[in-house]
Amino acid sequence: MSVVQSEMEGEVYFPSPEVIAQANVPDWEAAAEFARNDLEGFWAEQANELEWYRKWDKVLDDSNKPFFKWFTGAKVNIVHNAVDRHVKTWRRNKLALIWVSEDGKEERTFSYYSLNREVNRFANIIKAMGVTKGDRVTIYLPRIPEIVFAMLACAKIGAIHSVVFAGFSVDALRGRIDDSASKLVITADGSWINGKIFELKRTVDEAIKSCPSVENIIVVRRTGHEVPMEAERDHWYDDLCALPIANGKCVTEQLDAEDPLYILYTSGSTGKPKAILHTHGGYMVGTYTTLKHVFDLKDEDRWWCAADPGWVTGHSYIIYGPLILGATSFMFEGGPVYPYPNRWWQLIERYGISVFYTAPTAIRGLMRFGEAWPNKHDLSSLRLLGTVGEPINPEAWKWYYRVIGKEKCPIMDTWWQTETGMFMITPTPVVPLKPGSATRPVFGQEAEILDDSGNPVPDGEEGYLVLKNPWPAMLRTVYGDDERYVRQYWSKYPGKYMTGDSAKRDADGYFWIIGRVDDVIKVSGHRLGTAEIESALVSHPAVAEAAAIGLPHEVKGQAIHCFVLLRAGFAGSPELAEELRQHVSTHMSPIAKPEDIKFVDKLPKTRSGKIMRRVLKARAQGLPEGDISTLEE
Ligand code: PRX
Repeated sequence: MSVVQSEMEGEVYFPSPEVIAQANVPDWEAAAEFARNDLEGFWAEQANELEWYRKWDKVLDDSNKPFFKWFTGAKVNIVHNAVDRHVKTWRRNKLALIWVSEDGKEERTFSYYSLNREVNRFANIIKAMGVTKGDRVTIYLPRIPEIVFAMLACAKIGAIHSVVFAGFSVDALRGRIDDSASKLVITADGSWINGKIFELKRTVDEAIKSCPSVENIIVVRRTGHEVPMEAERDHWYDDLCALPIANGKCVTEQLDAEDPLYILYTSGSTGKPKAILHTHGGYMVGTYTTLKHVFDLKDEDRWWCAADPGWVTGHSYIIYGPLILGATSFMFEGGPVYPYPNRWWQLIERYGISVFYTAPTAIRGLMRFGEAWPNKHDLSSLRLLGTVGEPINPEAWKWYYRVIGKEKCPIMDTWWQTETGMFMITPTPVVPLKPGSATRPVFGQEAEILDDSGNPVPDGEEGYLVLKNPWPAMLRTVYGDDERYVRQYWSKYPGKYMTGDSAKRDADGYFWIIGRVDDVIKVSGHRLGTAEIESALVSHPAVAEAAAIGLPHEVKGQAIHCFVLLRAGFAGSPELAEELRQHVSTHMSPIAKPEDIKFVDKLPKTRSGKIMRRVLKARAQGLPEGDISTLEE
């Protein structure tokens, strides 16, 4: 790539002739033009590259907006395309998954053939436990191969998986199991985090005390430490695998394209987390197409998406997308700095990773340790890089580009959401890049920046980011709450999808994401809701009321700052602040542990009693408080 002066605004990195020559991606303008003129034709062409038990009657059914349906009338199963179809070809011997343990001592690899066997086994087991089509299964597992098998096993038999990130604690897990009314929970004895055990099974035991729907718990052995097991209800996965019912093929259910594939809880506005619903057909086509066009994966590639399977990035781009493409996906149990900050670079070298995808927060964190760590390793296998989860500051972009990519790897800054299921604003390898901009909407999509009353704002000005067209991997609803789906995403600007982000567009049509405009805090790329943090705080006996806000943080992007009003009889102290931070960690998640807690006598509220976090945020940063006409006296 090279930086050249051009007619485009700002600093632009153009792809080198070598990158262009290697890229097997559509010409941007031509594909965008095709999709603009014939949205259904564009997606039908993509869908035709995959296998269907029965093809669709209609690509897009928009007769009941905003409840869009895709590929109606078609029969399909995402697992057929992610696993079954590869086993019929030479790819049966290709590696589907390479896994490495946190300590680097264990390596497990699975060809598509053995992946199929593992999925069959897991599916046979859950089926024998009485899980059937439409049932919800909560999966609370660390980054180990069994999470892949468990998710695919659910999809194979038409059950709906609900993965809960294994970094969540008791209350967060309880809420998600309870809301989904899961009858089965799949977990492990524990997970390894920086050489220490994080209790998973004990957390499940605690969480399900008040979840009557749960009938069975499957426990994968990972750490090997002692955990309580309740007869009848709790089963070691190893023991189940030894049973005769675990053997043999399990049929892949022929489902309707619109049958649910999974729910994934995410935070949005106030209130409890929402269960975002994705379906088999459209999600399959969307993740396949975007991964193919953006990361241009080839058979010789080794793809590493360093996210956690518990978030949407892992669902779409560690598991479903790469497998549908027949790619080799790499998965590492640990994090980037344990035991030393060269862990990732060492693994890239050792496993010959060619395409690497991570979050800006990780890059910023690793930058702090200096260039010597990556420079110790041969990173020449890399040909493409990517980022996701939050805006990337140009400084981090340039470091990633220079130190990791050696100025030859384009960086795919992909903007998307749990709700979108697939990349929505993103470059492809042949597109000129601007550090800090996710470039332009994907083929078939149009984005707009609107003001509060729905008028487009001039280029260069900040406004609400909305999407104009439906897309196949879009969420179908909030599971069990259609009304919330409409209210949350389609009401502010009728007919347009409200992303919850603010952004700007420049004169070249490039989008620059600024951040969330709702009550979401992005901590190290993790999406957390203020409501959940606040409810963890008020569950402590000393707390009467609490407000959580996100303030800029050099490495984490945003950090959580809380304002707490104590109950009568309690006095604020550094010890109590520490106790409350720990309380949030054990009830919600260690990633939600507040950076700072301030004790206050009053919280700014509207006359109707809503806490004005915006005002707290402005005050904390010494910025103007904006419109405070609704502030109570
Ligand atoms: O604010 C945007 C930010 O992450 C939000 C979605 O979070 P989540 O549902 O957890 O999904 C994250 C992974 C897909 C968005 O509303 N975001 C995501 N990608 C980017 C981003 N902000 C800026 N640039 C990105 N590339």
